Amino acid sequence: MTRVIFANNGENAIHEKFVLKKNFSSVPFFRYPEPTSQLLRNKIAIYVGCAPSQVLCTNGSDEAFVLLLRLFTHPQEEVIICPPTFFMYEYYANITRSKIRKVKRLYDFSINTNSIIKHISRNTKIIILDSPGNPTGIVIPLTDIKKLLQTGIIVIVDEAYFEYCGITAFPLLKLFPNLVITRTFSKWAGMAGLRVGYVLASEKIIADLGKLKLPFNVNSIGLQVALSVLDQKTEYYKRIKKVIRLRDQIIVRLRQIDGVYAYPSQSAFILIQFRPEIAIQKLISALTKVQIFVKYIEQPMLKHCIRVNFSYPSEAAYFVGCLERIIENQKKLH
Ligand SMILES: Cc1ncc(COP(=O)(O)O)c(C=O)c1O
Repeated sequence: MTRVIFANNGENAIHEKFVLKKNFSSVPFFRYPEPTSQLLRNKIAIYVGCAPSQVLCTNGSDEAFVLLLRLFTHPQEEVIICPPTFFMYEYYANITRSKIRKVKRLYDFSINTNSIIKHISRNTKIIILDSPGNPTGIVIPLTDIKKLLQTGIIVIVDEAYFEYCGITAFPLLKLFPNLVITRTFSKWAGMAGLRVGYVLASEKIIADLGKLKLPFNVNSIGLQVALSVLDQKTEYYKRIKKVIRLRDQIIVRLRQIDGVYAYPSQSAFILIQFRPEIAIQKLISALTKVQIFVKYIEQPMLKHCIRVNFSYPSEAAYFVGCLERIIENQKKLH
């Protein structure tokens, strides 16, 4: 059987067989879910260390972004993002008819706080930062986040990959009511298909968002699985540690290949840069032919890069082997 490796979506398959063992057939899905997701909010509040009134459960963090843009922007008002960053922010802004202003990161992918502040106008309503970043894999220092919060603009810190690094902007929430944090069960808990995310913010913002969301935004199975994930947090963390260890081993291994540089990562994935003489689109096609799907991100700073992630050592080893062979073949042709 040919194996297909989806290294392109930041998904995490490591918990799959453990979740399937659990019996969710008792979930009464002929009933509507409880509209405020109160049980899950209570559990998330314990997990995070805040009050349940500071938590809103959403249909993935996707929904959280759309709700936040609806709450804080009118059409044509501006949202600052810092590319390279999660490409979907532009999509959410399109849905809500807000305008995106891009403030490029520095060469090392750190955000340029001075430039962001210079670009703030009366029309700027939100700054969105991903930490750790997608696809950069780097965590934004709290000092930078604090500097931006001091402007008074709403700062959304997208912590979709928090569990891969353990670093959060959450302590700043006590000092800055303009801070909003989004998180998700999609990545670390391997629940992308079940669509459960959440927002952490001031009670006021959570109450306002609650008035905008659809009544039954989180489905019954998603709620049940998320509750059981938090009940088995220790086991989930142990398995995530294995994925993190694998990520770091692959980074070391990739750096041994001539013409390849793997960036350090505090996230689920690895950003790989190739020397310009390696034909990247040909390389991606060759990988696709052997059923390995990787992510190419169309951004000027990432012209020679791909992004990959793996749940299992066998997948990662197969990828590295294929990559070496493809690069060797390209060299022979020159
Ligand atoms: C940085 C970042 N934020 C948010 C998301 C969306 O996550 P969700 O599945 O919760 O909508 C992703 C998914 O790839 C992501 O990479």
